[in-house]
Amino acid sequence: MDKRQNNTLDEFHVAVVGAGYVGLVTGMCLAYIGHRVTLVDVNEERVATLERGEIPIYEPWLESFMAKSADRLRFTTELAPRAQDADVVFIAVDTPQGADGSADLSKIAAVARGIGRALSEANRVRPLVVVNKSTVPVGSGDYVSMLIRDGLEEDGGDAGGRFAAEAREREANFQVVSNPEFLREGSAVYDSLFPDRIVVGADSREALDIMRALYKPVIEQSFTTELDPRPKIAVPFVTTDLASAEMIKYAANAFLATKISFINEIANLCELVGADVGNVAYGIGLDQRIGPRFLNAGIGWGGSCFPKDVAALRAVAREYDYESVLLDATVAVNERQRKGVISKLQRDLHTLKGKRVALLGLSFKPNTDDLREAPSLEIARTLNSLGARVVGYDPVAGKAAARRLPSLKVVFDPYEAFRGAHAAVVVTEWDEFRELDLDRVASLMQKPSFLVDGRSVLDPREVVAAGIHYRSFGHV
Ligand code: NAD
Ligand code: UGA
Repeated sequence: MDKRQNNTLDEFHVAVVGAGYVGLVTGMCLAYIGHRVTLVDVNEERVATLERGEIPIYEPWLESFMAKSADRLRFTTELAPRAQDADVVFIAVDTPQGADGSADLSKIAAVARGIGRALSEANRVRPLVVVNKSTVPVGSGDYVSMLIRDGLEEDGGDAGGRFAAEAREREANFQVVSNPEFLREGSAVYDSLFPDRIVVGADSREALDIMRALYKPVIEQSFTTELDPRPKIAVPFVTTDLASAEMIKYAANAFLATKISFINEIANLCELVGADVGNVAYGIGLDQRIGPRFLNAGIGWGGSCFPKDVAALRAVAREYDYESVLLDATVAVNERQRKGVISKLQRDLHTLKGKRVALLGLSFKPNTDDLREAPSLEIARTLNSLGARVVGYDPVAGKAAARRLPSLKVVFDPYEAFRGAHAAVVVTEWDEFRELDLDRVASLMQKPSFLVDGRSVLDPREVVAAGIHYRSFGHV
């Protein structure tokens, strides 16, 4: 029997639409484990960059793994031919926050219609599996199916619709699957090759089997890699209905954001009562029901996903007239943490007018160049509005930050940021900040000098020994 028909294919033809953080990493990993992958993006410049063998984002390991998989990777701006001949199409376009907080699905919709139009001209022997990897609210799988059908029914010009009648007759021309992504920026390649779980939601058994076959090397950890030498443990392959898979993604991000807000609430209480949140986090984290991860108190969560995904889940709650008190509080605590930086500076410097403040770390977290919802930008804007001069340093995101916020003076040496500063704030915990020569830092800053360690990366005793006043979140 044809391997394509009994789902025992080893090598799938995959198209990944959207060559951003998720699409690029997903496409690269699928190629790395042996599939033929075409990355499709509307951004011509991005596609040209990729064709030259360059990587348009900063993500550790991506470049070397792309090089290893180059013979199985292609790049294009044209969706139609790929949708017609691929076994599986992943949708990995951005789903930004809309004006009312809900997820903006317009890019997903454009891709879904495009797939439908392409399918109307395709003469396929087996259904196309359309995998939604973008983060989308419950019901989006059905929405994508509807739009693909709309696309199928559209008159696509001279040649268009040639096979449309036939395609309409074969409703099973495509199957939509939800396969949410859990990778973290900064460790995206690792997370994709060694995920905690793979979640797939579908209404069709056949589509689930195809997804299991596609991910087989990851599920069985049977690919070779030098990235993680530990013994391989099979990755749980979780199959659900479409709605549950979509909800799993939002619930995971909302839970993690809530966990961080929880420890930040405790940190604020620690400051009041004279306890140390580091000790408290360690003490509660040893309880296996709680776990030690995501208990770093500080400036709070930002990034391209937690803020928009929590907002989208709250928007869903509003649709049902459900009061999402816990999620509302999660956001309120997070907003308070950023304001906390300003209050700490005001407590020491009093007026911020005419003061120079150094921001160390501008990306929303270390090991990425992503500035989406980066706390640094909001803190810089507020400081500017209060009359302070803000100087920022970041190992990779400096230039992009300067473009995003012209009032921010960006420097490319951390010590330059400290020069003449009345206060400094560690906003992002890049490793290199742990190695700062604090005596040199102190000699460059105004006296008295203050340092707000927003991520608890420095040893308070060493900072104080250098003659700098140390401020933090939740430490005695
Ligand atoms: P991104 O902005 O980095 O990339 C999106 C890409 O899609 C861009 O290159 C854009 O040009 C392209 N695109 C937009 N419309 C298109 C179209 N019609 N056809 C082809 N390409 C198109 O976004 P991202 O961070 O990769 O996120 C993608 C999705 O994955 C989002 O839903 C996000 O919530 C989710 N997600 C992101 C992460 C993360 O860490 N970034 C992790 C898990 C899930
Ligand atoms: C997060 C999730 O961890 C991923 O599983 C998910 O796939 C992704 O969102 C997504 O949906 O896009 P990411 O945003 O890349 O990944 O980064 P995280 O490591 O989760 O950090 C998010 C924010 O929380 C950062 O601003 C970080 O500084 C902050 N954080 C994290 C804390 O303040 N304390 C912590 O203990 C951990």
